[in-house]
Amino acid sequence: MMQRREFLKKGMVGTAGLMLSPKSAWPMPASRTADSRIEVLFDEPIGTISPNIYGHFAENLGGVLYDGIWVGENSRVPNIDGLRKELIEHMRKIKAPVIRYPGGCFADSYDWRDGIGPADKRPRRTNFWANAESEKVPPNHRYDPNAVGTNEFVHFCKLIGAEPYLAANVRSLSAEAFQQWVEYCNSPAGSTTLADTRAAAGYAEPFRVKYWGVGNESWGCGGEFTAQEYAVEFRRFTAWLPSFGDNLSLIASGPNTDDWTWTREFLTELGRKGPGQLRRIYGMALHHYAWNLSRGKTQNWEAGKGDALKFDDVDWYELLREGDRMEGLVTGHWQVLSEFDREHRVKLVVDEWGPWYRPGSEATPGNLLEQIPTLRDAVFSGMTLDIFNRQPEKIAMANCAQLINCLNNLYLAHEDRFVVTPVGRVFELYASHQGGNALRTIFSAPTLHYDRDGKPATFWGLRGSTSVRDKNLTITVVNPSTSDLRLAEVVLRGATVKSATLSWMSDPDIHAHNTFERREALMPQTKSLSLSGGALMVEFPPACVAAMNIQLS
Ligand code: AHR
Repeated sequence: MMQRREFLKKGMVGTAGLMLSPKSAWPMPASRTADSRIEVLFDEPIGTISPNIYGHFAENLGGVLYDGIWVGENSRVPNIDGLRKELIEHMRKIKAPVIRYPGGCFADSYDWRDGIGPADKRPRRTNFWANAESEKVPPNHRYDPNAVGTNEFVHFCKLIGAEPYLAANVRSLSAEAFQQWVEYCNSPAGSTTLADTRAAAGYAEPFRVKYWGVGNESWGCGGEFTAQEYAVEFRRFTAWLPSFGDNLSLIASGPNTDDWTWTREFLTELGRKGPGQLRRIYGMALHHYAWNLSRGKTQNWEAGKGDALKFDDVDWYELLREGDRMEGLVTGHWQVLSEFDREHRVKLVVDEWGPWYRPGSEATPGNLLEQIPTLRDAVFSGMTLDIFNRQPEKIAMANCAQLINCLNNLYLAHEDRFVVTPVGRVFELYASHQGGNALRTIFSAPTLHYDRDGKPATFWGLRGSTSVRDKNLTITVVNPSTSDLRLAEVVLRGATVKSATLSWMSDPDIHAHNTFERREALMPQTKSLSLSGGALMVEFPPACVAAMNIQLS
């Protein structure tokens, strides 16, 4: 196995003893044989990958809305109706399918009625996150000016080509307010007073918002409900909603990570009014953040977190290990759902996922929950999207937390500065999976071994996911090893390769990241792949997330 240092040294001193393909960006020892294998099984389709798996989350929190998405019509920052133009352009590029808003915890303190009507008449309100904000942040982070409301958010989505996913307030508003929000968004032009109010703001045609969250984390900030109490609220909030001809897709507040009990108790209580109650649910939410890097030492939410930028190889693996729990969470929750819903009409909606580090690595100092994503987070994100792609029959939607200036952000922005993070680049690399047909694929590679504070630990050596659309095959791959290059033989069982390219992102420094000053410090590279003796041999450098795009004959 080639070690990372050896690999880099060889790359620097020259090509003696190596075969350097003209199309290859890194040297390859002439005699190397594959240590890994990727076998795509064309006769084992798994299902269609919902484009919504590539969804986003934008909460009114820290710098997400104000300074992130919204700069205002009179800003010197290029904007479309006050919305940051560069962000819209990038989100079009990744074909952003759906965006969740306004929270998160913020949703259960938000009154949508504050955010409509003339902007200068809208009230200022204390943001849910105000107590956590420092004195230094701009006033609009603590006191919501309501410059962004339903109109602006839906307009943002439409400019991108994304569906809005609105989370309703179950903790502090009534069922009537929820119904009226649906009416404001969806009632036909001229039909209701609220449709007239919408038209007066320039939006005569209904927004036709389909996805509605019924609360958020109702076991916590969303009301501190028990599962039974939430089930009662869910029934009341959804007993009648105007549909205006379109079926609404309602998402129930699901458990935190592996709290199977929440799901069971919620569904049991819901079903006490008859099995038909279940039909009201389109998706069951699931949240999982990878935060505990303490190597098993603590479960304390503050003490267990790690740093976004300062970490060693073990921290790298620990983050991936925490994120890799997603696979079991998805299958586990699916199993619980099957106890109540044998036909599996209710799907999973993983509407918050990503790593969560301790404060201290903000691109704009003071921004709440802002962190600078590195190569580690890119590999993490690729790994997570692969988990979703491998279970397309279970997952209807997933939303990376969060879009900009917060947690696992795709973008960082401050005033006129903007940068695409390595996570944003992963969404570019993976975009072609959207709507593709997932194929079962067998990845085999040597298991990784590392030292977890004196105890031996292991992690898988190579994984990914595959989808096909017409004659285009996408195989995305993660090499989690911080030290070892993988050389994989790619075998297509049931199809032949016409041409292939590889796009990959990696760096000798596992901490590599982009900043406002060095916007392209970490970028994907692309090369053509050539068939050697009919076989496709592909190298995956250490710490790498990659996409192979293969044209089939
Ligand atoms: O994404 C930040 C917060 O994390 C959300 O507001 C909440 O739903 C979750 O606990």
